[in-house]
Amino acid sequence: MRITSTMAETRGLYSAAPVGLVPTLGFLHEGHVALLEAARAECGTVAMTVFVNPLQFNETSDLARYPRNLERDVELASAAGVDIVFAPAVDEMFPLPIATEVSVAPLAQRMEGVHRPGHFAGVATVVVKLLAGLRPDRAYFGKKDAQQLAIIRRMVLDLSIPTTIVPHPTVRERDGLALSSRNVFLSESDRVSALALSRGLMAMSDAAEAGERSARALEEIVLDTMAAAAGVRVEYVELASARDVARLDVVDEHCFLAVAARVGEVRLIDNVHLEVTPDGVAADRGILLDRPSVLYSQADDV
Ligand code: PAF
Repeated sequence: MRITSTMAETRGLYSAAPVGLVPTLGFLHEGHVALLEAARAECGTVAMTVFVNPLQFNETSDLARYPRNLERDVELASAAGVDIVFAPAVDEMFPLPIATEVSVAPLAQRMEGVHRPGHFAGVATVVVKLLAGLRPDRAYFGKKDAQQLAIIRRMVLDLSIPTTIVPHPTVRERDGLALSSRNVFLSESDRVSALALSRGLMAMSDAAEAGERSARALEEIVLDTMAAAAGVRVEYVELASARDVARLDVVDEHCFLAVAARVGEVRLIDNVHLEVTPDGVAADRGILLDRPSVLYSQADDV
């Protein structure tokens, strides 16, 4: 496996098609590893990026605090069969103050967009830059960032970018908590409270699969579960179209019910994708780990 710092050097190392790209902010967990394994199974060359993109952090303190551990990221990537880790410096990605911004505004204004102004423009801009500079055939993104996934899919369609976007189910800890690099900042008691998000979403999924289609009723299930948990401050609970992130009143063909909440000092998001099939509604609850996450073996390093 090779570690690179420029896009040209990275492209020069592609050995077999198709080329699969897994963009990350680093501090890998099993959610990233699942993306890497999916890419490995489908691609001749697998490249991963590790870049803490300053454009997408709307709070400077969040950027400074974001956990980093390139050495471990490289170890995990190597074990997952990655060929190239592209880990550029900020100056390499942005040699000049960036003058171009990619905005997918209609999909970015609701939910996360309300609470993290400018976040999605920062994500879209860096993802376009990575896709343009690294030119992968396929790029892999987790369904945990449901709004981000919808935005990237729409951007790739609108701009005719010749990369196939491949979504992957959310990976959860054994007790249901969705994996996030930020989980390492949860105190022991906040970690327990944080389970209310996934518990609410699982109860909501059961109700949806049993025939409940009303957004309000499904959102209430999640809200009630979170209201019962100590120290959970809900930011939003909403059913949205997976196509255009529009608010839905009833479960539609492809949609997701998403939640954001602050638990202690940590902001968490989670969701379940719902799909209407000929047999009824199917919920993608994600994949449960059968062991503690690798995140906690890195927690001492943050
Ligand atoms: O989902 C993430 O980790 C980031 O938003 C991404 C896609 C790597 C862009 O910086």
